[in-house]
Amino acid sequence: MMTATMKPVSRVLRLGCVLAFCFQVLVPYGLPRAWGLDNGLAMTPTMGWLHWERFMCNVNCQEEPDSCISEKLFLQIAEIMASDGWKDVGYEYICIDDCWMAPERDSKGRLQADPKRFPGGIHRLADYVHSKGLKLGIYADVGNKTCAGFPGSFGYYDIDAQTFADWGVDLLKFDGCYCDSIQHLAEGYKQMSLALNRTGRSIVYSCEWPLYVWPIFKPNYTEIREYCNHWRNFADIYDSWESIRKTLDWTSSNQKIIVPVAGPGGWNDPDMLVIGNFGLSRDQQITQMALWAIMAAPLLMSNDLRHISPEAKALLQDKDVIAINQDRLGKQGYWLRKEDNFEMWERPLLNLAWAVAIVNLQEIGGPRSYTISVTSLGRGLACNPNCLITELLPEKRKLGIYEWTSTLKTQINPTGTVLLRLETTSSAQFSHSVVSDFL
Ligand code: GLA
Repeated sequence: MMTATMKPVSRVLRLGCVLAFCFQVLVPYGLPRAWGLDNGLAMTPTMGWLHWERFMCNVNCQEEPDSCISEKLFLQIAEIMASDGWKDVGYEYICIDDCWMAPERDSKGRLQADPKRFPGGIHRLADYVHSKGLKLGIYADVGNKTCAGFPGSFGYYDIDAQTFADWGVDLLKFDGCYCDSIQHLAEGYKQMSLALNRTGRSIVYSCEWPLYVWPIFKPNYTEIREYCNHWRNFADIYDSWESIRKTLDWTSSNQKIIVPVAGPGGWNDPDMLVIGNFGLSRDQQITQMALWAIMAAPLLMSNDLRHISPEAKALLQDKDVIAINQDRLGKQGYWLRKEDNFEMWERPLLNLAWAVAIVNLQEIGGPRSYTISVTSLGRGLACNPNCLITELLPEKRKLGIYEWTSTLKTQINPTGTVLLRLETTSSAQFSHSVVSDFL
């Protein structure tokens, strides 16, 4: 703590401190991140809603008019996103996934929406979505067919990019099914990125490129980041704890490869938030929300916003957790360690703050306690010499000031998570302002 009697530090000494501090702070995070797709979009992870996990490829509007893939669904969800607080907390993109298309292209080779299910067409839907202050996402595929068998974009990249731009689309999810070679896959993802750029419209480009490359070789993430705003790495998410756990396991096992490449403009995408559906307990929903914030993941909900419990809604709209996800430092968090079936993750945030998540992976018994030694957090820097710790999940409460050598005891339900935010106290902020002077 700087007191009134302390003398200002001399410039030379300050520089010495700064260099030592920079070394401590900057070196552990590695080299400057890779150059990314320069379309000015996704400077923080994309937030919105995507139909796939909840509504899949339901085209039976006769029998299930409320849950089939039709313009009615998107009009209703857009209306709710604008009126029920979703837009206010940042959920902006309402995204159509597979199965929106008619089975054939039109006479000019353009994709067209299924005329029965989207009688107004995509252009009108986009206008409506825009009138609500939201943005519209759409889906296509780099290969000969989409994963559900609708027309693919192979050979039509420019036409399709222009069609989407003409309609007023703001995001493209580009899948990788039915591509006949890994060369075509890579070329296709690149060509579509360039084609979207040439339209002159700002269109977020959401790829699945690495997911389809992994079975053959390790993807070149530097290259992927140059062309995509986010990219799926791992299998489709399901509405189950097993699926969440596998996604987290994959991410931690591959973090050396995927974490350094994430940053403003380009993000790893662990797939949709399934909070508010059927398969996750309250604690598991908390775990998904907390860890998607730590992973700087796009927050694309796939649920039915027309029928969602107040608890799920409050969790998805939690501004403090969203603030971690959207943190402007733009660094993805990482897995720290596993001990006694507790897993710890942490993420550096702006202003030398940190987010820490502790997951209780034990699926038997009741709440278990875990004691964290504060020195171990934030690469030893988070609470040096002390910090203010706030619990954000499962409940928001200030835990108080913790000294560097102190410990913090938590109680965590099976498959649940405690999410903490650690903030520097004034003396640490002093060091930060000294650093900022010189950077
Ligand atoms: C793939 C994708 C999913 C979804 C479906 C649609 O499986 O990974 O996210 O888009 O295709 O068919």
